Amino acid sequence: MNLSNKKPFIAGNWKLNKKIPDAVFLATQIKKAVRKERDAEIVIMPPFTALSDVKKVLSHTSILLGAQDTFWEESGAYTGEISPSMIKDTGCDFVIVGHSERRRYFGDTDEKVNKKIKAALSAGLFPIMCIGETLEERENNETMSKVKKQLREGLKGIDKDLFSKVILAYEPIWAIGTGRTASPEQAEDVHGFIREQLTKMVGKDTSSCVIMLYGGSVKPKNTFSLIKEKNINGALVGGASLEASSFVEIINEAKKAYKEKQK
Ligand code: PGA
Repeated sequence: MNLSNKKPFIAGNWKLNKKIPDAVFLATQIKKAVRKERDAEIVIMPPFTALSDVKKVLSHTSILLGAQDTFWEESGAYTGEISPSMIKDTGCDFVIVGHSERRRYFGDTDEKVNKKIKAALSAGLFPIMCIGETLEERENNETMSKVKKQLREGLKGIDKDLFSKVILAYEPIWAIGTGRTASPEQAEDVHGFIREQLTKMVGKDTSSCVIMLYGGSVKPKNTFSLIKEKNINGALVGGASLEASSFVEIINEAKKAYKEKQK
């Protein structure tokens, strides 16, 4: 599969929500609205337990599937863990790595994130790597240094040819689940900075292909203004992806923003 940032990329992170019947119901509702979407890439990310059932719902559609985390080892005595190839086995193409909730509650460090990204890439998954600052770091003017560190350490040792398979999600922690969104200018400032850092790491040709998402209280009403920004290629949506109507509205707003950008 080839990814491109020539169309918006909208991913719904369902987090710890939806048992199998509810997940199947939500996926079916989304499918009814966007069965064959050509002008946007759409990914839904149910909890592990619902992946296989949701995959069945998505057959014959353009909607793609992702998981919310992975372990880095392939197999072995690691009770409770799930490997990238097991995730691939359920029909997923994507996996979130380093979400701030994993970093905060489950001890995911930049080093662990790096191992997970490498393992995901080796299994043929596209990792969605999340980075972002706390409110305190923003107030202390440490946003860029934090993001730079997460970027450098998370992507350390990854072959330049694989960079375009990594999707980045800038998610300011103070904006996640709080109803407080970064303004389009604040978000674009950081996205532009990330693109610059990527250029330093792997050159302009590669960095310009990387898909960069914004995440943190994305709703239908703020999607257009965020995605209209030059370096914002889509959104990682939490709360608003749990209802088909708001998720589908976000997809439509993102398509409008892309049309506007390409004028
Ligand atoms: P939110 O979550 O949209 O509910 O703020 C975003 C995320 O955590 O990816």
